[in-house]
Amino acid sequence: MPYTEQQFNLPAMTGLSDKQIEVHLKLYAGYVKNVNAIKVKMAEYMADSAGNALALSELTRRFGFEFDGMRLHELYFEALGGNGEMGEGALQAALVAQYGSIEVWLNEFKALSAMRGIGWVLLTYDAKGKTFHNVWVSDHELGHLADTRVILAMDMWEHAFMCDYMPAQKADYVTAFLVNVQWSIIEARFVA
Ligand SMILES: [Fe+2]
Repeated sequence: MPYTEQQFNLPAMTGLSDKQIEVHLKLYAGYVKNVNAIKVKMAEYMADSAGNALALSELTRRFGFEFDGMRLHELYFEALGGNGEMGEGALQAALVAQYGSIEVWLNEFKALSAMRGIGWVLLTYDAKGKTFHNVWVSDHELGHLADTRVILAMDMWEHAFMCDYMPAQKADYVTAFLVNVQWSIIEARFVA
């Protein structure tokens, strides 16, 4: 089944312009298109997998990049349009239980955004080990922790903020992202 580009009804936001969101959504659409295109090509090449081994190998590697790029952007846009207030609930209680306070968790999460290079800062939850992890993922696919759930995804590619901020203003973008997070969505992901 081909994937369908999701539609996000985002309101006007503080610190993230409509233009920025529009440009970014177009990039997201490209990932969906490429995921579908790679699937079709791979099926074609599979008809002669030995003869197409080189191309198949490259497409197979490429697939993780495109798929994770698609899915992480969906997690990103779905969680925007809120007021940035986490509020009290199961997620807040679990974060405090592990980190001592929300501030300690948030400082660690924000610190990862200063990583050099392109990628994502994720808050993931390992249900097996009952543990949160703040994770840096390079590109879209390098560094994921197997079998953990992405709870919060913050895009740290420059395309996520270049319309509104200079590269040296990454921290301002992080602030803008966080004030627009819809924490009820993040809470729902955690509870699920
Ligand atoms: Fe992005």
